[in-house]
Amino acid sequence: MSVYIEAIVVLGILGGVLSALLALAGRRLANYGPCSVKINEREPIIVEGGGKLLETLYDQSIFIPSACGGQGTCGYCKVEVVSGGGTVFPTEIPFLNESELQRGVRLACQVKIKQDIQIHVEESLLKIKEFRARVSRVRKLTHDTRELEIKLSEPATMEFTPGQYVQVLVPGKGERIFRAYSISSPPANDNTIELVVRLIPGGVGSTYLHRVEVGDEITLTGPYGDFELDEDKKTELICVGGGCGIAPMHSIIRHLQITQPKKPCTLFLGAATADDIMYQEEFSELKKKMSHFEIHYALSDPGASPEWEGERGHIHELVEKLVKDKPGRQAFLCGPPVMIEAVSRVLQSKSFTKDRIFYDEF
Ligand SMILES: Cc1cc2nc3c(=O)[nH]c(=O)nc-3n(C[C@H](O)[C@H](O)[C@H](O)COP(=O)(O)OP(=O)(O)OC[C@H]3O[C@@H](n4cnc5c(N)ncnc54)[C@H](O)[C@@H]3O)c2cc1C
Ligand code: FES
Repeated sequence: MSVYIEAIVVLGILGGVLSALLALAGRRLANYGPCSVKINEREPIIVEGGGKLLETLYDQSIFIPSACGGQGTCGYCKVEVVSGGGTVFPTEIPFLNESELQRGVRLACQVKIKQDIQIHVEESLLKIKEFRARVSRVRKLTHDTRELEIKLSEPATMEFTPGQYVQVLVPGKGERIFRAYSISSPPANDNTIELVVRLIPGGVGSTYLHRVEVGDEITLTGPYGDFELDEDKKTELICVGGGCGIAPMHSIIRHLQITQPKKPCTLFLGAATADDIMYQEEFSELKKKMSHFEIHYALSDPGASPEWEGERGHIHELVEKLVKDKPGRQAFLCGPPVMIEAVSRVLQSKSFTKDRIFYDEF
């Protein structure tokens, strides 16, 4: 028996020594030393190698969109790597088209700095800022969704266009975690922004934003997003939102009420049940003030709302039924990928060109 015990002790010691050696080797191998990072025409900076490009850019106050928080699943964090980026990872391929691959476009969250690197960041992204802010109001919208009003303090104002979004920093140790949230207030209020946040059980970002209270400090970056409202007052706008995809529509319609109250605009909102519909009263009030604004709802799970007398089914079916075939219009869609895909298909069959259909998927 004592022979067995001795063997176990020896094996234990050997195992311990081996793990210590592996840990040491790992540290040595991962020690890339100081690396030079050249961003656009700026003077190169020297950083300790081994970090993610996305994090290094953040440290340089360059706030690349990173809606999935660096998990490599959103494809938003694209930058052009001129040299020193290493091989493209299989995780990046689904997000990069042929021309991007040829230009050296990479996902900044997947690129580790292991040698001197030169990159090019779009000028528009260099304008994105980091904001310190405080929660100034909290309102429950549905059983799982709350609206947060956030007062900006440093800088005190944000210039944004309706339809854009911000990224909220989720406090914690280790790598920074961001989550994207559409701004639901109009740009006329530039000192406060409103967000609509649905609680995802176990979700880090939404749980954090469902716990914050009035007075709590929040850090966010923005604004992000490429939706540009056609300024021609006669250009008809079709907005389609599913679930929390209502948030940017709330910003767009309130902005139109202030700036172009006669612009033709139709809003389609999809929800699972009647209890999931948000801002119904607000939109009815806006309709009274906007002569060419129409709103249509559809419930995908009407069985749970026996009193519902409105449309039933998926929102793309209602779009199919009501939107006429006419060129020259603009569309903004926001909601889950399946909804975006289905609505885009319907709109393209009604003379919408791809470049006139903007969307945010989540
Ligand atoms: C441009 C953009 C704008 C957005 N705007 C809004 C907004 O206005 N309001 C809003 O609430 N969200 C919005 N989102 C989604 C938001 O960024 C987060 O993805 C969402 O809050 C979930 O993050 P989390 O950290 O709570 O969950 P995570 O920690 O990321 O995920 C936890 C678990 O839940 C799953 N999960 C994640 N999202 C969902 C989902 N929607 N449904 C079911 N399961 C899910 C994940 O797969 C994972 O298993 C937006 C996203 C983008 C890209
Ligand atoms: S893919 Fe989402 S942050 Fe990089």
